Amino acid sequence: MKLTRLEVKSFRNLKELQLNAADGVNVIYGENGQGKTNLLEAIWLFTGSKSFRGASTSELIPLGGDRADISLCYDDGVRQNELRMMLGDKKEIMQNAVSLGSATELCGGFCCVVFSPVHLNLIKGSPSERRKLIDVIIGQMKPRYLSVLSEYNRILLQRNTLLKDVQFSSSLLDTLDIWDMALAKKGALITKTRQSFIEKLTPFCSDFYEGISNGRESFDMSYQSNIEIDGEISDETMLCQLKAARPEDLRNGTTSIGPQRDDILININGISARAFGSQGQQRSGVLAIKLGEAALMNELLGQTPVILLDDVMSELDDSRRDFLLHRLEDKQIFITCCDPNQIFDVDRAFEVSEGKIVKTE
Ligand SMILES: Nc1ncnc2c1ncn2[C@@H]1O[C@H](COP(=O)(O)OP(=O)(O)OP(=O)(O)O)[C@@H](O)[C@H]1O
Ligand SMILES: [Mg+2]
Repeated sequence: MKLTRLEVKSFRNLKELQLNAADGVNVIYGENGQGKTNLLEAIWLFTGSKSFRGASTSELIPLGGDRADISLCYDDGVRQNELRMMLGDKKEIMQNAVSLGSATELCGGFCCVVFSPVHLNLIKGSPSERRKLIDVIIGQMKPRYLSVLSEYNRILLQRNTLLKDVQFSSSLLDTLDIWDMALAKKGALITKTRQSFIEKLTPFCSDFYEGISNGRESFDMSYQSNIEIDGEISDETMLCQLKAARPEDLRNGTTSIGPQRDDILININGISARAFGSQGQQRSGVLAIKLGEAALMNELLGQTPVILLDDVMSELDDSRRDFLLHRLEDKQIFITCCDPNQIFDVDRAFEVSEGKIVKTE
């Protein structure tokens, strides 16, 4: 998968610009607040996913303007494809001159993996932030997973409401069994999906981490389910534990068993990266997860995704920077930074100033 050209007419602070990308490493540099992250965000939106900054459509439209208008050409190894997105009063998404109903129809076409500082929460953040970020990654590769997840959350909410209501009307206790069965069915499926996804992803991440740290450090990741079992989790095991925890759940008015309480343990050199990792190690760990995501996508979907790295260079030593810039072969990368001295021997470099590309080298 290669992005060949990005054209912006208007998008956030970006004015009219054209970017002809190189196959390998493309660096986007410039001072703070000039539009580097906005450029990556424009590229990312063509994956059909929501903004990695959590922005709403209205935030993408230039202040004082009435529309955002961006186009992108990419080569998927078979053909050249053209995408266009116009956002304003009317939303129009075009794929090879055919109008699409919504941006989500772009999913599965142009694919990217993005690292932005917000992803540091994969290590630094709370278990819920880790679960959320991992769910988004799984959802990209298995869109059906997201509907199972939202169904689970709906059932969980209803069970929690019921747990509180039972205090006032004990006859409701009988209906709890039905909710438990529905919850156990979806909950076991979510746990199994996450477990198997983390198992598949981890070896790729460990390899990348070894590369980033020049073989000096190790990386490991495992899924921590709160359902205690030997062997594989099933509907029955989750149901059994829900039943056992019912008195406590009734007391607290909330569900204590299930994937909403799980975590992902990430270790560097055998100890928790969240508790003990240095800034550079945490950043390297998240990068390894993101590069592992790209490798897994390649294996599952047969496409090498384009890699977008926003603000990744800070806190990394020279050898780690060298790895990112020069040792990720066969990948197209877009990497932003403020200091052009941090970049050396790359395929193309674009300087961004006041929403325009002012220099291409
Ligand atoms: N809808 C919008 N309309 C106009 N300007 C916007 C809009 N959204 C964001 N901006 C502006 O775009 C500018 C550039 O933002 P961006 O995040 O791309 O900067 P950056 O080059 O990545 O900077 P940094 O190095 O600090 O990360 C900011 O000054 C911001 O105020
Ligand atoms: Mg930025």
